[in-house]
Amino acid sequence: MKIGIIGAGNIGGNLTRRLTALGHDVSVANSRGPETLRQLAEETGATAVRAEDAAKGAQVVVVTVPVKAVPHLPSGLLDGAAEGVAVIDTGNYYPGRDGRIAGIEDEGVTESRWTERHLGHPVIKVFNGTYAQDILDRPRPAGDPERLAVPVAGDDEQAKRTVRALVGELGFDTVDAGGLDDSWRQQPGTPVYGLRAGVEGVRKALAEASPERPEDFRG
Ligand SMILES: NC(=O)c1ccc[n+]([C@@H]2O[C@H](COP(=O)([O-])OP(=O)(O)OC[C@H]3O[C@@H](n4cnc5c(N)ncnc54)[C@H](OP(=O)(O)O)[C@@H]3O)[C@@H](O)[C@H]2O)c1
Repeated sequence: MKIGIIGAGNIGGNLTRRLTALGHDVSVANSRGPETLRQLAEETGATAVRAEDAAKGAQVVVVTVPVKAVPHLPSGLLDGAAEGVAVIDTGNYYPGRDGRIAGIEDEGVTESRWTERHLGHPVIKVFNGTYAQDILDRPRPAGDPERLAVPVAGDDEQAKRTVRALVGELGFDTVDAGGLDDSWRQQPGTPVYGLRAGVEGVRKALAEASPERPEDFRG
């Protein structure tokens, strides 16, 4: 698949490594420009591009930047993407890092709904609670008793299927965590956030979540 990754940090870098290793055609961008991504491109065979070009022709786009950066992404970011593009959002709102975002805290929308509105395109929330290093270190084949599971939330069922298949290829099981309005169940501070467990453990943790934003994650 043709995959665009916007953000080349802990998560974006490791997804670039794994997705290229699986044979996908990956374009990757950061805020400072493709010349600063030469090393990652050489290491992985990915193409370093400008953020405004990352989604061009892509069937899957991964947005993996600090939440505070989302409003600063180029406008029309997804305009040139393939029809039916699935957009992954790995973001977490950390008031200490992102500053207080009233749209999330006061309006009671989920973090990914806020991001989706800025992007102007439906998103699928996945990998937000996965340690970046686990993307490299913990992939396991389907059926392996050690295989970890991750929750996947989003409203576009076709995109969700595409994303779940890709996450499976990356070596993780998935649990359908509902629509984007349900995605508070996997936000920072919830039982599933950072949990290393299989399908049953993830289901149980999602069910135990409280909709109240934890004190530590309020600005
Ligand atoms: N780290 C983890 O283990 C982890 C796990 C799950 C989820 N997450 C979440 O996933 C997101 C990314 O986390 P991370 O740890 O990978 O972040 P990170 O290491 O800080 O990397 C952020 C990346 O976003 C890029 N970026 C920032 N502003 C941009 C812009 N306007 N246009 C294009 N690219 C931009 C940065 O580019 P420059 O360096 O050029 O500025 C950098 O490549 C965050 O929301 C985080 O909370 C992180």
